[in-house]
Amino acid sequence: MIYQIKPVIGKLAKKNIIKYIKNDNWITEFKHTSIFEKKFSKFTNSKHCIAFPNGTLTMYAILKCLNLRKNSEVLVSNYTMVATANVVKMAGLKLRLVDISEYDLCMSPKDLLKKISKNTKVVIYTQMNGRVGQINEISKICKKRKIHLIEDSAHAIGSFYKRKHIGNSGIASSFSFSMPKLITMGQGGAIITNNKLFAKKLRLFKNFGRKTDGIDVHNYLGYNFKITDLQSILATSQLKNIKERIKLKKEIFQRYLNNLKGNKKIKMIPMKSYETPWSVDIYFKGTKKVKKILKKNNVLTRYVYPPLNSQKIYKNFKGLPVSNEYCKNGLWLPSSLDIKAKDIDRICSILNKYI
Ligand SMILES: Cc1ncc(COP(=O)(O)O)c(C=O)c1O
Repeated sequence: MIYQIKPVIGKLAKKNIIKYIKNDNWITEFKHTSIFEKKFSKFTNSKHCIAFPNGTLTMYAILKCLNLRKNSEVLVSNYTMVATANVVKMAGLKLRLVDISEYDLCMSPKDLLKKISKNTKVVIYTQMNGRVGQINEISKICKKRKIHLIEDSAHAIGSFYKRKHIGNSGIASSFSFSMPKLITMGQGGAIITNNKLFAKKLRLFKNFGRKTDGIDVHNYLGYNFKITDLQSILATSQLKNIKERIKLKKEIFQRYLNNLKGNKKIKMIPMKSYETPWSVDIYFKGTKKVKKILKKNNVLTRYVYPPLNSQKIYKNFKGLPVSNEYCKNGLWLPSSLDIKAKDIDRICSILNKYI
């Protein structure tokens, strides 16, 4: 069976985890998490990195630490994982959905301008499948109107823009290290920011509102959003060969693209040289039929995220044509780091036969 995606943590991570366990370590968040945070902040060209249990609580924490008035409006792309929208509700804020651009599947600056109101205080920008999109324009729009920009960079480990890792355009950026991500902790997340004060706030927020572990003085309201050193060891070990991981993902995408580019019924949005996909996404009519055929051939795929406004909880949002078109006609293809070239070729010949 070829999975749509499975984790490939590598020999080094396995070795380091065993060594850590054998040495009777403390397991909770400690030195190895600080090491991971330093290394991830260096890799992402950011000043501060704060580890979190996942890429949902990261966004929730950012929103809470912005101290916004209840019902402040937060604008989110209609094509993203549901967590990006749910955190707005979780933080007691008001959600509005924005359509995407057909060129990069990220938030459309044109539609954003239409949706901004005097209550808009935050934009959460998702780099869909590692695509940088029009972050420059979005950032300018936000700066001009004093709107906070948060990047949901869950898909975008290894994507760079103007020689900097993505995630440095707004107040803070959220990363996820869940199972399918380029670096996986099983479950895990991190926030990067270049704002020292904001980083300090986030650290207090994730540690019961206290400055350090073991001292029970709580001058601020905070919770427990810590991780474990076991998770950090997993991530630090994978960061060691991050360049190789990035290269492999790019090669996988390019091989699919080369095999499918002659098929006019399949749309693929090519990746730029500075972008890294987390998986391979294709768009065509008749995904249900083709998904079944692939499964019969032991190839597992996944539908891309449905448009948020097709979910019962968000059905009141209308007028989002581009995201509705793409999200209803897309498949994630097998994209694990260890997929073989001959398997990609076989999958593509099935696709070319039936589409
Ligand atoms: C774009 C996006 N944002 C947020 C999340 C949530 O991250 P996590 O699963 O780590 O909570 C995901 C998870 O896949 C995602 O794809």
